[in-house]
Amino acid sequence: MAVWNLGSINIDNVYRVSHLPAPGETLHAADYTQGLGGKGANMSVAIARAAARVTHIGAVGPEGAWTVERLLEYGVDTRRIATLSDQATGHANIAVDEAGENQIIVFSGANRALTEDMIGSALSDAAAGDFLVMQNETNGQGYAAEIAKKLGLHVVYAAAPFDADAVAEVLPFTDLLVLNEVEAQQLTAAMKADLTDLGVESIVVTLGGDGCRWLDVSGGSETHMPAIPVTPVDTTGAGDTFTGYLVAGLDRGLPMLQALSLATQAGALMVTRKGTADVIPDLKDIEDARLA
Ligand code: RIB
Ligand code: NA
Repeated sequence: MAVWNLGSINIDNVYRVSHLPAPGETLHAADYTQGLGGKGANMSVAIARAAARVTHIGAVGPEGAWTVERLLEYGVDTRRIATLSDQATGHANIAVDEAGENQIIVFSGANRALTEDMIGSALSDAAAGDFLVMQNETNGQGYAAEIAKKLGLHVVYAAAPFDADAVAEVLPFTDLLVLNEVEAQQLTAAMKADLTDLGVESIVVTLGGDGCRWLDVSGGSETHMPAIPVTPVDTTGAGDTFTGYLVAGLDRGLPMLQALSLATQAGALMVTRKGTADVIPDLKDIEDARLA
């Protein structure tokens, strides 16, 4: 099978700081690096490193050509990434403090200039049983979800960052919803419903240092998977890595608990690494780390 990822591609500017800046504060960064990021790109790289086939559907501006080259180098099918001459490549300014916590400002640019034609023609190559994964850093999620469902794809939706309008459009077509605790709260408040009353069959809530909760809504059960204790260096991209590994595992036919276990190990290892897409672990890194 294969995974289709409608997702953002960002240039990540990462600044190491002693503490996250307060309003009005000017802060010196101890270190600066630029790399490939974006919740979508991070997931595509994670899916490729978890040994699944992934086609990225997205857009960059002309100055972002290197991000597409890099995705290709990392094993992602980039033929459905458009270069838009009148748009800037998405970028994120990320401050990371000494405890590994971050603060992120994202400028969407080309990520939100996708057309229905670009999405529809990409998905016309998809087959029943494939997976579509999406986040909230592009436009077009509702359209993509509806087409994917008609084609018999499994729709996985990570509602990050939270966006009430996108969520309302995508939920009716979602098979698996992935949220962190903050997004879970925002979503239940916006929808005025419990997670188990959304009509979504399967929901994973990531809990940071407490692991994750899997709500098998259709099966009527709930499973808690504990986290793997690590010393955090940089939590940026850990959630994206988790979701990418989860989707890749399911696409490769693993049972949910095995896919979740792999995702948990990948997320834990990612927290120990500085950076985003460029440092996402592969299956061998996970095996060598023997975290489980
Ligand atoms: O989830 C981490 C990502 O969020 C970063 O790579 C940044 O680009 C923002 O999209
Ligand atoms: Na990281």
